[in-house]
Parts: sequence; C-alpha cells; structure tokens
Amino acid sequence: MPTTTERAFVVAAAVLFCAASRAAGPTPSYGFGADPAPGEFDQFFAAMPDGRGLPAGSGSVEQGKVVYQEQCAACHGANLQGGLGDRLIGGRGTLANSDPAKPPVKTIESYWPYATTIFDYVKRAMPFAAPGSLADDQVYAVTAYILAEAKIVPPDTVLNAATLPAVKMPNRDGFIADPRPDKFPPVAKSPHRSLSIAPVTN
Ligand code: HEC
Repeated sequence: MPTTTERAFVVAAAVLFCAASRAAGPTPSYGFGADPAPGEFDQFFAAMPDGRGLPAGSGSVEQGKVVYQEQCAACHGANLQGGLGDRLIGGRGTLANSDPAKPPVKTIESYWPYATTIFDYVKRAMPFAAPGSLADDQVYAVTAYILAEAKIVPPDTVLNAATLPAVKMPNRDGFIADPRPDKFPPVAKSPHRSLSIAPVTN
C-alpha cells in the first residue's frame, strides 16, 4: 500500500535527515510542512499482484455487465473493442510472433500479467471523467466482466480479494524476471501492508 510505503519513506527520510543534521550541528527549522495526521495516507490505494491491498467486497460478471454498459461502454465500446478509450480485450498471442499478418495488439487480455492491476487501475482512474466514483463491489464486478469477455474466467465468476489474485492472466509468463535482491527486498520484506490473505503462487 502506498499508505505504508509513504509512511516508510517519510520515516526513512526523517532518519536520514536527522543523521545528516546531527552531523552538521543543531537541527535547522524551515517553518513549513506538518506531520501527517493519523489516517491521512489512507486515501492512497494500491493493489498488489498477490492480493495485498484489495478491499472487502465482491462482484459478479453479471453485475459487471451492467456497470460496464452504464459507465464504460461509451468510451471502450459495446464489445470492449475500444473507441475514445483503449481496446480492453483481444490480441492474445500477437505480442510475440513473427507473422506479419498478426500485428501486436496490446490489451488487458494480451499483455497485462496480473488481474489485480485491472482492479487497481479502474478503482483509481476510471471512469475517466469521474475516477474514484465506483464502489468496490462495482470495481470487482466490472473487473469480472472484462475478464469474462476476454475468456480468462468463466461467466459465473464472482471476484473478491481472494479469487481475483488467483486469476492467471494469459501473458503472465511473457515477462523476463529481474529480481535484483541486492536492490529490492523480497516481497515478504517489502514495506507494503502485510498479507491478510494467503499469497498466490502462479
Ligand atoms: C470518458 C471516456 C471513458 C470512460 C467512460 C471510461 N474510460 Fe477507461 N479509459 C479512457 C481513456 C481515454 C483511457 C486511456 C487513459 C490513459 O492512457 O491515460 C482509458 C483507459 C482504461 C484502461 C487501461 C487500458 C490499457 O490497456 O491501458 C482500463 C482498464 C479502463 N480504461 C477501464 C475502464 C472501465 C472499467 C470503465 C468503466 C467503469 C472506463 N474505463 C470508463 C476513457 C474512458
């Protein structure tokens, strides 16, 4: 969660600042800034691939169809084929191929490695003109609808904080891992809020 990431960053920055200023003499006061109020960072939201950060709630494909038609279709097309907004499905298998008749088509279905990113993105950024206006149940539902239209999940799917991270995206293994443990801590030691549900290993 950016919540804890940010808090960790503030703490880290404060520690560095104190260390630096102790070396340089008395702590200077610049007269600006304020300590974050309790809960102030809670407005920030992020969902991790393993499900950390996902809120309570759930939504079905059927419910998502209604959300989609009312809130998304005008820009992303009745069949998710795109329009004013991006094409959301299709293109599977077109990103890595040597067939000139198959130009790469980058969509959620063909490219995105984690299903949780759909929730994360839609909750924070969509609908375009009113980001943040959807209830979490609606975000789960419209995520389920997009995944069902992409034939990644069956039409009777209900998504929630446990089932969404378990969805395996078609291009999940299309990326080259770059773990660099010397630079980035392992997931278990990352500053994100600790797991409330079992991690998924797919
Ligand atoms: C007013 C038009 C509009 C509406 C309504 C709208 N979107 Fe979008 N959407 C966009 C635009 C424009 C982008 C590209 C934004 C960008 O790249 O910064 C986008 C991007 C996206 C993406 C990222 C696609 C990608 O491959 O990067 C997703 C997912 C998405 N929208 C889902 C939705 C959902 C779900 C809804 C309904 C709840 C919705 N959008 C409603 C215009 C819209």
